[in-house]
Amino acid sequence: ASTSDGLLYTMTMAETSVEVLPGRLTRLRTFNGQFPGPTILAKRGQPVIIRQTNKLSVPTAVHLHGGHVASRDDGFPTDTIPPGDTRDYYYPNAQPAASLWYHDHAHHQEAENVFRGLAGSYLLTDEYEDQLPLPRDEYDIPLLIRGGRFAPSGNLIYDADDPDGPDHPAVLVNGRPRPYFQVAARKYRFRIANVANHQLFGLRLRGGGGMVQIGSDGGLLPEPVDVSEVRLSPAERADVVIDFSRYPLGSRIVLENTEACEDECPDVLRFDVVRPAQDTSRIPDRFLPLEDYGPPVVERRFVLTSDVRNNRHFINGKEFDADRIDIRPKVGNTEVWTIVNGDAAHRIPHSFHTHLERFKVLDRNGRRPPASESGLKDTVAISPGETVRIKVRFHDYTGRYVYHCHIMEHNGTGMMGQMEIE
Ligand code: C2O
Ligand code: CU
Ligand code: CU
Repeated sequence: ASTSDGLLYTMTMAETSVEVLPGRLTRLRTFNGQFPGPTILAKRGQPVIIRQTNKLSVPTAVHLHGGHVASRDDGFPTDTIPPGDTRDYYYPNAQPAASLWYHDHAHHQEAENVFRGLAGSYLLTDEYEDQLPLPRDEYDIPLLIRGGRFAPSGNLIYDADDPDGPDHPAVLVNGRPRPYFQVAARKYRFRIANVANHQLFGLRLRGGGGMVQIGSDGGLLPEPVDVSEVRLSPAERADVVIDFSRYPLGSRIVLENTEACEDECPDVLRFDVVRPAQDTSRIPDRFLPLEDYGPPVVERRFVLTSDVRNNRHFINGKEFDADRIDIRPKVGNTEVWTIVNGDAAHRIPHSFHTHLERFKVLDRNGRRPPASESGLKDTVAISPGETVRIKVRFHDYTGRYVYHCHIMEHNGTGMMGQMEIE
């Protein structure tokens, strides 16, 4: 690929020591030495090429999560960059604005690679979103949230059975433990992504106080929704607007995680309202209606189960096999997928993700999903025992892609299937 085909970014994946905890160095696997990786700002209609060089000692495969890209550029788990090699990934950016992210996807390596740092934000804008009066520029901020367990040396301890730690001793936001953030008394847009290996987050402003959710995985919702809490399973995203003008100057507002607590919930980050501001931003009453996917012509069922004792994970009783095609969707078809969490007895949640296409959440256990799930999604939480139905449309690309649970330790140990779109 040459630069005339699109904007060229070069990235190097390498081991790097980064000061994550104050005064200590953490050995990480980074993109360009940064943790998280550099934020890519992309525009619809303007392709991006990312030239990735792997200077790690393990294979990698870079996947643009939520990206509508050709099969060869999708970071298929066995289509890896061997140590020492370079590869170009071409992202056409022909899809609507959305908060995407990129991360490693090399089969059996992805869980540890991502845990040790191989993830970053990829923010795609378009003309429609650009002309909206939403908070922008320095008031539009990605927040990548995850846990991590640190040894006294400062190094991350990777435990495949419990990657985020037993009690989630550290919550990292954009690679920093429980940071604080000095804000002006005005509206901000936060693009929150759960980039944890397996941890769930329930994000709430301590003491109450609303947020307005304007977007999810696949871009803006049809209309904004008032929420008191944002729940995200691994790889899910939520765009929210918080208006700090309703707090007096000098206020400290804590975003807490309701998932890891009974009475007192741990802090995720703190906002300090430090200065007054002019604010001409505004949240419109509605955004664009969702594309009509039409009636489904195919129905499929995916049952997610685990063999806890042997740490094996299955879809419809099968572990991932790169040489086996599980489903063959056809271009132009709309399908309804019923996804069943068959792990009620083990109380294991799952987080179902499909590559390439965005879907609509039809129902949860037969009931209408919450308004926060009214937009297009690429990842959906499936609680223990729950059945969720989604509607997906195959628009154009053919070839091989995967769908899987986004708990990294589940997809790396089998809970992944392969589709060949024809
Ligand atoms: Cu976020 Cu298959 O990936
Ligand atoms: Cu993906
Ligand atoms: Cu899972």
